Amino acid sequence: MRFPEDVPTLADDVVTLRAHTVADTRPAYEACQDPEMQRWTTIPVPYELGNAEHFLTEFVPAGWRDGSNWAWAIEYDGRYSGTIDLRPGDGDVGEVGFAIAPWARGNGVMTRALRLAVAHAFEQGWERVTWRAYVGNWGSRRVAWKAGFRNLVTIPAGGVQRGVRRDEWVASIARDDVPEPQGNWWRVPVIELDGVRLRAFEGSDAKRLMEACNDPRTQQWLAGLPKPYQLEDAEGFIESRLENLASGEGVSWAIADPDTDELLGNVSVFDLRNRIDKTMGEVGYWAHPDARGRGVMSTAVRGAIGHAFTPVEDGGLGRRRLVLFAADGNTASQRVAEVNGFTRTGRERAASPDRDGGFRDLHAFDLLGTDQRPGSNR
Ligand SMILES: CC(C)(COP(=O)(O)OP(=O)(O)OC[C@H]1O[C@@H](n2cnc3c(N)ncnc32)[C@H](O)[C@@H]1OP(=O)(O)O)[C@@H](O)C(=O)NCCC(=O)NCCS
Repeated sequence: MRFPEDVPTLADDVVTLRAHTVADTRPAYEACQDPEMQRWTTIPVPYELGNAEHFLTEFVPAGWRDGSNWAWAIEYDGRYSGTIDLRPGDGDVGEVGFAIAPWARGNGVMTRALRLAVAHAFEQGWERVTWRAYVGNWGSRRVAWKAGFRNLVTIPAGGVQRGVRRDEWVASIARDDVPEPQGNWWRVPVIELDGVRLRAFEGSDAKRLMEACNDPRTQQWLAGLPKPYQLEDAEGFIESRLENLASGEGVSWAIADPDTDELLGNVSVFDLRNRIDKTMGEVGYWAHPDARGRGVMSTAVRGAIGHAFTPVEDGGLGRRRLVLFAADGNTASQRVAEVNGFTRTGRERAASPDRDGGFRDLHAFDLLGTDQRPGSNR
């Protein structure tokens, strides 16, 4: 192919993918000063003007001429805003890579650019397009998810960045796949009710979370928690909430004091991808010791339930049925279930491991979306 004459221009109503020009050098150089760009890509650091000149006048034209890399400039709002490239692999499977200037982010530009590039790849006879990102690059993962990439896996140390191995996410889309999101990527809505705020966990919750999970009663009833529960366990829990949301597995709220925003506990709705029943969910919770005995958890669970039964199209979790389990002897937890209208459905014998190696019975509860719930208009 000849550069730039043979570079196809791809466009939708908002974004145009076109051949790069030397006029892109300065904006490309500026975009590459961004710490996020340096953190998540393999561009040289520090990034000099000469790096941008080399990229635009040598690397990009050579890629088109020998067919090893098809890189387009992303034109948005009348300006160069980033680059997206397709890297044909061995025949009909290749990779996509992308990056956009900080000023253009959060407007859906990259999702549009990705859809255009992927459609072009399939027109050119590709069977599959692969996306890779370093673990933790949530913005890139969401772009890929929105454009229909699927079957995400994590490859430990699968990537290399400036000589250092990094864990990598890989997902792909095939020619016959619908270019639409697969599965749910949940959000954590802020819910305020009766002296309780439910919100997403934040890094600053780690210390209170550690205290709550080291508490003897929490340790007794949640025997799966590490003992002792350390700050890094708390930080790991907070970080893993993002994965829960992105994979569609569950939603966890931090229960916070509405005045101070201090962490009071946790309520989660999880198992949302249950293999047998995709309309169910399980409710779980724990409270910080200094927040117990004043109805905080009953209120928090009420908020979580309301969201769980709200249809997906209205921003909720679209659940039909919720289940809840409390160990024999954990009367406070059983009370929270009953106060919220759960029905006691039975007793699972020797189902809950104890810390001493024994097993306790579990009390099972359920709640249907059609049930009358205390304190709600249902
Ligand atoms: C990743 C990147 C390409 C996204 O570009 P963009 O134009 O903002 O993408 P879009 O606006 O199309 O979509 C971004 C989505 O990610 C979401 N997002 C961004 N940061 C997020 C985060 N930390 N956690 C969860 N979602 C996040 C946005 O909310 C948006 O989703 P929404 O439209 O549903 O709200 C851009 O941030 C970038 O260039 N980063 C640096 C380079 C890079 O990481 N390249 C990819 C290497 S694999």
